[in-house]
Amino acid sequence: MAILLPGGAGYIGSHTAVELLNQGKEIVIVDDFSNSKSEVLDKIKQITGKDFKFYELNYLDKESLEKVFEENDIEAVINFAGYKAVGESVKKPIEYYINNVSGALVLLDTMKKYGCKRFIFSSSATVYGERKEVEYTEEMKRGETTNPYGTTKAMIEKILEDIYTSDPEWSIGILRYFNPVGAHESGLIGENPQGIPNNLMPFIMKVANKELDHLNIFGNDYQETKDGTGARDFLHVVDLAIGHIKALEKLEQEKTGIYVYNLGTGNPYTVQEMVDTFQKVNHVVVPYQYTARRAGDLPIYYANSEKAKKELNWVATKTLEDMCKDSWNYVQKNSNK
Ligand code: WQD
Repeated sequence: MAILLPGGAGYIGSHTAVELLNQGKEIVIVDDFSNSKSEVLDKIKQITGKDFKFYELNYLDKESLEKVFEENDIEAVINFAGYKAVGESVKKPIEYYINNVSGALVLLDTMKKYGCKRFIFSSSATVYGERKEVEYTEEMKRGETTNPYGTTKAMIEKILEDIYTSDPEWSIGILRYFNPVGAHESGLIGENPQGIPNNLMPFIMKVANKELDHLNIFGNDYQETKDGTGARDFLHVVDLAIGHIKALEKLEQEKTGIYVYNLGTGNPYTVQEMVDTFQKVNHVVVPYQYTARRAGDLPIYYANSEKAKKELNWVATKTLEDMCKDSWNYVQKNSNK
């Protein structure tokens, strides 16, 4: 019996693959390398000393996906496949809806055909939309998403709810990520987006490594935060990966049901705190300048993750310093790549 990981060569997927293998689980990774690199697969094997099957395919290709189910006894799927750049999604909505939503539908339809009804979905805090509250709890209704990326996440959550209503034999975990950062302590895997990064930490990493000239801090006039810069619930990617292990255990234990969890620390840090900490713990300089706010940004939001703590026995344990050190370690071990 194996766990199928679409997008398993990506940032979150590869870290989760490591934790699954460390737990003795059998995994199968499928990936089209649209936002990942093939050498990550060897790095996962190097870290864990374990082997696994891999298929290079686009999960929209139903025939290829069916072949994976024909050739492997898939007991559950954790779906990491999906484009995830907020800014890019505004420019390319059709590509985002096709890849993220149609891709998820092809995957779910194929699972149904082969009687596999255990599914964990990489969702995002962005589904809460713009709201007056800053601490998000799972009881809150999904809000108005502000970009196609976020809308695809909200759509897939709704699709999963409808699937469960139609057939309560399904076993579904919806994990709402806050802001994943950091890298495995080995420095062998980490966040390495193609092109100019959208997210804060990969941008800091490239500036610190002198690949980019400076960081623009988007706004330092937010009254709602301690120093005027935006604040987010940054969590270490290894904590996040372990959250998937705990969610899978929950689904295995409950057999059926649909469960939604925030995966965050509940402890927001500002952009200024992130930049200052990164420089301090790594003894590097990250030149920056304050610029205008980025359209669509919220001043501050963070997770109430009590539900994951209570029901999954999951708590994020790594510190902001760990996130900064592990990110920089990854850059140093991979910068000539
Ligand atoms: C964080 C903070 C920016 C870049 C989005 C998605 C979320 C998830 C993570 C994919 C904000 C500031 C950023 C920069 C900056 N998606 N910033 N200069 O927007 O919170 O979340 O990405 O994994 O679903 O919504 O993440 O890292 O882009 O921004 O000042 O060059 O850093 O204004 O306050 P965000 P982010």
